[in-house]
Amino acid sequence: MIVLFGARGDLAKRKLWPGLYRLTQAGLMPEDFRVIGSGRHEPDSDIASEVRKALEEFAADDLNDDDWKPFAEKLSFVKSSADDGADLAAAVKDARGDLGDDSRTLLYMSVPPSAMKSMVGMLAETGISGDRARIVMEKPFGHDLQSAKDLNAALHEHIDEDAIYRIDHFLGKEGAQDILALRFANGLFEPLWNKDHIEAIQIDIPEKLGIEGRGSFYEETGAFRDMVVTHLSQILGFVAMEQPKSLDAGDLRDAKAAVFRDLQPFDPDLTVYGQFDGYTDEDDVAEDSTVETFVALRADIDNDRWRGVPFLLRTGKALAEGRRVVTVTLKEPDCTIFGCRVEGDRPSNEIVFELTDDPQLSVGVKVKVPGPFSAVAPAPLTLDVERVLNQSGLEAYERLLRDVMVGDHMLFTRADEVERLWECAAPLLEHPPEVQPYDKGSWGPEAAQRLAEPTGWHLPEDQSGLPVVDLGAAVGA
Ligand code: BG6
Repeated sequence: MIVLFGARGDLAKRKLWPGLYRLTQAGLMPEDFRVIGSGRHEPDSDIASEVRKALEEFAADDLNDDDWKPFAEKLSFVKSSADDGADLAAAVKDARGDLGDDSRTLLYMSVPPSAMKSMVGMLAETGISGDRARIVMEKPFGHDLQSAKDLNAALHEHIDEDAIYRIDHFLGKEGAQDILALRFANGLFEPLWNKDHIEAIQIDIPEKLGIEGRGSFYEETGAFRDMVVTHLSQILGFVAMEQPKSLDAGDLRDAKAAVFRDLQPFDPDLTVYGQFDGYTDEDDVAEDSTVETFVALRADIDNDRWRGVPFLLRTGKALAEGRRVVTVTLKEPDCTIFGCRVEGDRPSNEIVFELTDDPQLSVGVKVKVPGPFSAVAPAPLTLDVERVLNQSGLEAYERLLRDVMVGDHMLFTRADEVERLWECAAPLLEHPPEVQPYDKGSWGPEAAQRLAEPTGWHLPEDQSGLPVVDLGAAVGA
């Protein structure tokens, strides 16, 4: 059985309901199951109609009556809050009775960070988080180091670490796991994966979307907590970790935690905060809000592999484009027998990961320009993984929901990792840089461009993974 807290929220509508429906279609759910949605307010009509609407909007291609009807029969809704879980506990007990004593309960906590601790208390008091429950905690986990520690302590009082799944859905993206595969399943790249060969690494997640009616969540969270200390840092962990002993959750998370120990606290002088024009006109946003909707920062990792290599992280709402790109820029000689690099040109040797559910990978090389000259030009070796292998993956939330059901922690975060990341966040939380305005549809405040010098941001200079080349100039036309 799944109990979904925040069942009427934005995440549930966009990802969780569609994910559960598709997993059911794919035969990846247990043979018999129930989903009890919960939240502080009853649905306007009934939960099945609300879920149906969400699927029409976010899973239209997969929606059909034959699959929908049996799925809809498994859905119900029971109101609950941190102060009152009695009705929900009764419903959970009934469902456990129906499903049998060996059934498991998956508790999905899609609630704001400020509500988590009291909700966990309610689950323990009512017995909902009893023996065979697994609990999924949405990010951000806490809002600073102390609250994360408190939340971990509150969880550990009632629930074993083995039953806790701190979710960061970016790790569930196929593209994120491609980073590990590319690095550790090949002999080609790992020898280059260090400060001797790499000039800079960018983790760039610009979003075209604004805050989409999530004013109160955003006012509480902001872009730094929503994206940087979570998704972007976790991806940094995959890019920068040493090779784990194995893909077991323990080994993989040890390797990631070791990178975070070497990650230096984020420096306010190397961070730019921005807020898009019009943010304060959004619903549930304070007129004088200084919450950041854009962050760009330079992070450093103090270990032998990475000392001196800038890790440039950028994300923001209402920007010019929506992308999720990791760019590894390799060092290049200033001059080769084919000529010298022109000052200001981006290096061509880049490894670019598109962290989509349909991952793309490209490696930038220089090739000879065809024709009777000796000029070279940058060109991408591009791979569309699903097309080449003729196989599609699961959407990130689907993959992770499935992992919880089979009890695999590999792509979930551990208490020590999360606490260390909040430690790194502390200087920014204590001394946030002044928020600078930016236009909707732009690339954020000007200062963010300067932060990435001399390499510059990989986006938006080109869309293909490589610098735009003037072929006329390359061939001396
Ligand atoms: C969520 C954030 O975790 O990730 C959102 O709360 C953000 O603000 C979203 O838009 C981005 O996820 P994805 O999978 O659409 O890139």
